[in-house]
Amino acid sequence: MKIIFHETGADVSLWLDELSRALPEAELREWQPGDTAPADYAIVWRAPRELFANRPDLKAVFNLGAGVDAILDVERREPGTLPPNAKLVRLEDTGMAQQMVEYATHAVLRYMRRFDEYDLLQGEGRWEKLKAHRRESFTVGVLGLGVLGTEVARALDRLRVPVRGFSRSEKRIEGVETYAGEAQFDAFLDGVKVLINLLPHTPDTEGILNRTTFAKLARGAYLVNLARGAHLVDEDLLLALESGQIAAATLDVFHTEPLARDHPFWRTPRVTITPHISAETLREESIVQIAWKVKALERGEPISGIVDLERGY
Ligand code: NAP
Ligand code: GLV
Repeated sequence: MKIIFHETGADVSLWLDELSRALPEAELREWQPGDTAPADYAIVWRAPRELFANRPDLKAVFNLGAGVDAILDVERREPGTLPPNAKLVRLEDTGMAQQMVEYATHAVLRYMRRFDEYDLLQGEGRWEKLKAHRRESFTVGVLGLGVLGTEVARALDRLRVPVRGFSRSEKRIEGVETYAGEAQFDAFLDGVKVLINLLPHTPDTEGILNRTTFAKLARGAYLVNLARGAHLVDEDLLLALESGQIAAATLDVFHTEPLARDHPFWRTPRVTITPHISAETLREESIVQIAWKVKALERGEPISGIVDLERGY
């Protein structure tokens, strides 16, 4: 079995060493431009189009992340990029859910207890007590109730804040008020104080964090975007912050990464920026999952995490 690997930001030799220990029967190599030699599987993050060319025998492409939008975007712009018989397989959790729980919980508590405002007051040397938000009306809405959103919603329920969740198909999650489909979107948003985005980036969800959405939230709501920059209309957020409809935002993802030095978000005091770290791909956990799935496919057994190309996630 032959496997090609491509990841520009990683320590490739560590990945290859650990993958070869997990899959001793495999011949592993780092893909290089011009490499058209046969391969059964590809393990990639942000692979160039060329990697996929002339590979009718490729059985599966393992995406080293939960979101497959980068690969599907190439396929959308240049149909036929992905080999016709290859399954596209994404990471499922592999330690990302716990990281998202930590990040989202921190953001909700920071806003509920107004620690972000105390940071600003401290900067001005001011000793001032602020009236805390009431937990009972500090409703958190989680957009996307998949592998990551479900765990985040459950964890927030344990904080005893009201939690709502929104997905495409109906869900039942104990302690979480669930809403599904476009028809229930407005009801989901109505009165939400913290909106956390964990949707995949698809044509249906692009730009979903926009002025119309913000207007339906509670006045002075908070936005936490953990999914993709393309979900957010940046100008609409800046206007909503200016008007006070949105009180503050925590952003981990951006249209262009790294975020340009001259982007106004850097200079907007109530915008918190992190460099796409809310849930990182953990090597050990990812290799265990991918190796297990490769072996299952070799045995002809079904696996989970196969992307529905039509749906886009
Ligand atoms: P997932 O398991 O595929 O869950 C996606 C959820 O979104 C599902 O509940 C799905 O509904 C819902 N959804 C999709 N399209 C929708 C639509 N049009 N309307 C309403 N709901 C919709 O994905 P995941 O593993 O939780 O990951 C979510 C996203 O997080 C990834 O796609 C990625 O972009 C992002 N992410 C970011 C980081 C980071 O570090 N910033 C790290 C990992 C992941 P159904 O359940 O009904 O299908
Ligand atoms: C990271 O952004 C991922 O999609 O896993």
